[in-house]
Amino acid sequence: MSAAADVAARATAGFRQRYGGEPAGRWAAPGRVNLIGEHTDYNDGFVLPFALPLRTVVAAAVADDGRWSVWSELDDEPVEFGPAEADEPGRVDGWAAYVAGVVWALRAAGHAVPGARLAIASDVPVGSGLSSSAAIEAAVLAALVELGGLDLPADRWPRLAQRAENDYVGAPTGIMDQSAVIRGRPGHALFLDCRTEAVELIPFDLGAAGLAVLVIDSHAPHRHADGEYAARRKSCERAAKALGVAALRDVATGDLEAALARLDDAETRRRVRHVVTEDQRVLDTVELLRAGRIRDIGPLLTASHASMRDDFEITVPEIDTAVEAALAAGAYGARMTGGGFGGCVLALVDADAADAVAAAVAAAYADRGFTAPGTRTVLPAGGATRLD
Ligand code: GLA
Repeated sequence: MSAAADVAARATAGFRQRYGGEPAGRWAAPGRVNLIGEHTDYNDGFVLPFALPLRTVVAAAVADDGRWSVWSELDDEPVEFGPAEADEPGRVDGWAAYVAGVVWALRAAGHAVPGARLAIASDVPVGSGLSSSAAIEAAVLAALVELGGLDLPADRWPRLAQRAENDYVGAPTGIMDQSAVIRGRPGHALFLDCRTEAVELIPFDLGAAGLAVLVIDSHAPHRHADGEYAARRKSCERAAKALGVAALRDVATGDLEAALARLDDAETRRRVRHVVTEDQRVLDTVELLRAGRIRDIGPLLTASHASMRDDFEITVPEIDTAVEAALAAGAYGARMTGGGFGGCVLALVDADAADAVAAAVAAAYADRGFTAPGTRTVLPAGGATRLD
């Protein structure tokens, strides 16, 4: 059985076992990696993520009592909640908060959300920075929209799922992850303007170019990731205010030096420099990809990493080690992907060199006494969808 079929079968088996009977349908949403454009989304800037072939599947059916039961492989027993808990952000916690958050966001937007029984299985690793939470949000959203016959076109789903995460779960994240896992398409990266939500699908045909993206899970524990993320976001917002712009996206590359000269503290200057140069690197990457020059994006990926390490200060030793080892083993470029303080590194490599690069990273980890990394090659996959 393929991995995708297996996870769907697990969701169905979970549904039958917990609730009895058959689900009305199964809906899936993927994890994501971000090719480039880190911590730019909440600065109204540009990102270039793609959806992964790893998926979360929700098997679901309407529940006539108007309440929600949700079981996942992470727990033995289903979590249950009704409208009262769903309407009070924070009342449901743990992984089930992403489900309650979607119910809350739908209800807050005036939709009549049907009660439902849901069973969730997933191949998206939790805590690796591959957006397992956005995958849950998107799959549950797809299920509830269809089960309830709600009038909600898919281009409005990312903002709604983001609200679930921001306002119900309480994580001040941007709109990148939800956009990637909802709007991603096979063979393409998603060029997203986070201010306008305009999307352009950029062909990213690694196979035809003899290339692969190697995703290296650092297995580094997330150290204070939530607090540090919120602190970075605040610092960017303060800087935008000090510079008299709506968001750091409004600082043009050519005006960067003048803008930096107006800021009096060195840390804030570094944060601003990361965001402004990172937006430019996204635009440059898109230009190269449009011209079919995939290999040439390597130096931009590596420059993005250096900027996250030195200016935004969100990397950790395991992550930097993976990047250095991948580059030394011949990767065209490598960078951390996602919010930081752990998670994954991606490396652009010749397809036939992927194993050697993975082995070089594993050897560097062994030398340093780090927990062995996880490695896999990935291709851009499709976004949230109904399976059957
Ligand atoms: C996390 C957030 C995203 C984005 C990235 C950093 O993944 O959920 O919104 O800010 O970090 O680029």
